[in-house]
Amino acid sequence: MPSNPILICARGTELRTELETALTDAGYTTSTVTTPADAVAAMRGRPVDLIVAEGLAASGAIASLRTASEGRITPILVVAPAHDVEARIAFLEAGADDVIAGAFARNELEGRVMALLIRAGKYQPEVASSTGGELVAFFSPKGGVGTTTLAVNTAVLLAGGGAPATSAGLASNNGAIPASRVLLVDMDLQFGQVATHLNLTPRYDLAGLAGDDQALSDPELARSHLTTHSSGLVVLAAPARPEGDFQVGLEPLQRIIELMRPSFDHIIVDLGSRLDPRSLWLLEQADAHIFVLFPEIAALRAMSLLMNFMTETTAPHGRTHLVVNHLFPKELLKTRDVENLLRAKPAAEVPYTEVDMIRSVNEGVPLVIAHPATPAAAALRRVAQAVIGIEHHAPSPRKRRRRSLFGRR
Ligand SMILES: Nc1ncnc2c1ncn2[C@@H]1O[C@H](COP(=O)(O)OP(=O)(O)O)[C@@H](O)[C@H]1O
Ligand SMILES: [Mg+2]
Repeated sequence: MPSNPILICARGTELRTELETALTDAGYTTSTVTTPADAVAAMRGRPVDLIVAEGLAASGAIASLRTASEGRITPILVVAPAHDVEARIAFLEAGADDVIAGAFARNELEGRVMALLIRAGKYQPEVASSTGGELVAFFSPKGGVGTTTLAVNTAVLLAGGGAPATSAGLASNNGAIPASRVLLVDMDLQFGQVATHLNLTPRYDLAGLAGDDQALSDPELARSHLTTHSSGLVVLAAPARPEGDFQVGLEPLQRIIELMRPSFDHIIVDLGSRLDPRSLWLLEQADAHIFVLFPEIAALRAMSLLMNFMTETTAPHGRTHLVVNHLFPKELLKTRDVENLLRAKPAAEVPYTEVDMIRSVNEGVPLVIAHPATPAAAALRRVAQAVIGIEHHAPSPRKRRRRSLFGRR
């Protein structure tokens, strides 16, 4: 957490206290004054790394604040009246480094402060690890088969948020999933439901981030577009409206993944059921893939088409896992038939779960939290384990070697 000294200059007690509390809570060392003259005097005694000044107090005084910093670069963030675009422009023209509207959200204030400190060379963001987090793509060529349910539950488990299974028989499946930093990206760009599954009301979303050039060049600012779930899982929500899909270009998306990778151990992407340049790029980049299959003929045909397409275009380099999700109580196709047709053994089979699954979605509490002792939650833990490389294949009854899911012919 940064602890840079910040000088707050505001006439109004309420705003002064609000700024002081927000910045102190964020780890900064703050001092406060009420007038620009006091600010100039304070800076002579003790240099600061940044000034946050209320517009009225700073008006006409930006130049004197600059002079007071005696050759050091001290960025000035001005708090301007909300909804007054003219005033904001005037402050920028008068030399403010950035302007924030009066009714700011805390994370916006923190983001802007951090961005100014980084730009002025006063704060060094954490050095990116050379590898960065693993990208995990959840995809199904057919919609409505549980892709989002599986992605959400897996992400919660990897974030360490799954409640422990209490039943002795199931507890053994609960081990070996160490809590990690997980980002879940909802790439079902038109009707994404990750937020619903987690009962979140995101303030910001993927379309907003993709269109925010400033955030795309600033990891801290980009982080302010994320929403954190009580499990610790961090979410980049799908656009709030279907048309937001058209605002998410491939390049901004690539930039977002590049920006986020160093901060997370796993980036789980719910890719939904549509191939387009963006989902194809993510499938190519992913270190692990979970392909969700509902065992009926149409879903199987779609999966077979996908396999052919991927084999002919670009075989993903990462690990690929098939998960069979039983959406219906009746077994429509035997898993052995699925295995034979696709020549791949599922990493897990999620059993039909009559009421709990739908209720989990309706209430926004993932099954692994709400009903950890159910067989479905145990299967979801196997999916999470497959993602981190722990596999549970029962010995194959037949010795025939199986081709990998997307092996070239
Ligand atoms: N194993 C299961 N048993 C019963 N219902 C399920 C199961 N898996 C998913 N569902 C239900 O199926 C519906 C669709 O799931 P969802 O994850 O939104 O699918 P997709 O993302 O593929 O469109 C949800 O209402 C969910 O509760
Ligand atoms: Mg979905």
